[in-house]
Amino acid sequence: MNPSVPSYGRVIGIGSYLPEHIMTNDDLAKIVETNDEWITERTGIKERRISDPEKDTSESMAIEAAKRAVKDAGIDPKEIGLVVVASTTPNVLFPVLSASVQAAVDADNAMCFDVNAACPGFVTAFVTAQNYLKSGAVDTALVVGAENLTNYVNFEDRSTCILFGDGAGACVLKADPKLQYDAIMRAAGKRGECLRCESYMQKGREKTDDFLKSNYINMDGQTVFKFAVTEVPKVIEDLLARTCTTADDIDYFILHQANRRIIESVAKRLKQPIDKFPMNIEKTGNTSSASIPILLDELKKEGILGQGNKKIVISSFGAGLLWGAVQTEI
Ligand SMILES: CC(C)(COP(=O)(O)OP(=O)(O)OC[C@H]1O[C@@H](n2cnc3c(N)ncnc32)[C@H](O)[C@@H]1OP(=O)(O)O)[C@@H](O)C(=O)NCCC(=O)NCCS
Repeated sequence: MNPSVPSYGRVIGIGSYLPEHIMTNDDLAKIVETNDEWITERTGIKERRISDPEKDTSESMAIEAAKRAVKDAGIDPKEIGLVVVASTTPNVLFPVLSASVQAAVDADNAMCFDVNAACPGFVTAFVTAQNYLKSGAVDTALVVGAENLTNYVNFEDRSTCILFGDGAGACVLKADPKLQYDAIMRAAGKRGECLRCESYMQKGREKTDDFLKSNYINMDGQTVFKFAVTEVPKVIEDLLARTCTTADDIDYFILHQANRRIIESVAKRLKQPIDKFPMNIEKTGNTSSASIPILLDELKKEGILGQGNKKIVISSFGAGLLWGAVQTEI
């Protein structure tokens, strides 16, 4: 039943899934010319999870994370009115991943669609779901971020293969009239060339070496770095100004886990202590749209979030270029 006053949704359940296989920096150093010290110093990453080709797909990881989130929420899945899955690396183009998740969790009353917004995919899906809740169209939503990014990593390119990992995370949102919520999403498609991956399936395209390389993640790391350290603090500051709050009022800033130095730079720009910026990048690498819900799940399990009394800002950025920030309570 829809609430009498349509409202934004409180996170009432979180779940995540990480593949078992761990690839350390030392493992990577056996494949490309790199070393643990360089990777740790430049990125903060020590290890990442790599999907098992025998059992892990974006679909299977999304389903596992979603099942865990629904269980954590303790709801009847028939209450879910909307399933949104963010993935930039779906193993099937259709049926869409959200339909597979809907089937697996028995969310038989839900509408479904997928969102492809690269690394900020989860935030984009979260904001989209919030607007469905606020409109009164649905009362409960399941939002998932799932990525099998290492399928698109060129393990001969040391500037990208060190960064990425696989996994999935999910949240259940339930309309709550008392919830504080606001968000700003931005895009700059004119600056998108610095982070690109082309589809293999393009008729008329000869499978030349250059074309095959374009089917992997291609990145100008320094340009992406500068974009992130400039735009992320700006969008957070704009959001805080709009909600008449200051950075000091926020308990935690949950940032996309792409690079420790990016997060440290944002903390410095916002004049906030780094312990207000929880991180798990050391163990996960950049899991794209899965990074934020995986981190939220860890923080809930540690008892840091999930009691409903913490003010947080979530912010992500990535290919597009796309970025944005959400302010809410959890
Ligand atoms: C990729 C990134 C770690 C590279 O760090 P950087 O400090 O910018 O390094 P540079 O690209 O300037 O490279 C510096 C040197 O290190 C070398 N290098 C690159 N990768 C290396 C590696 N894995 N190991 C050792 N050396 C490496 C480069 O070849 C270069 O050598 P040169 O000076 O002899 O040419 C950094 O730019 C970054 O994290 N950018 C953001 C990427 C990101 O987050 N993308 C996803 C967004 S969602």
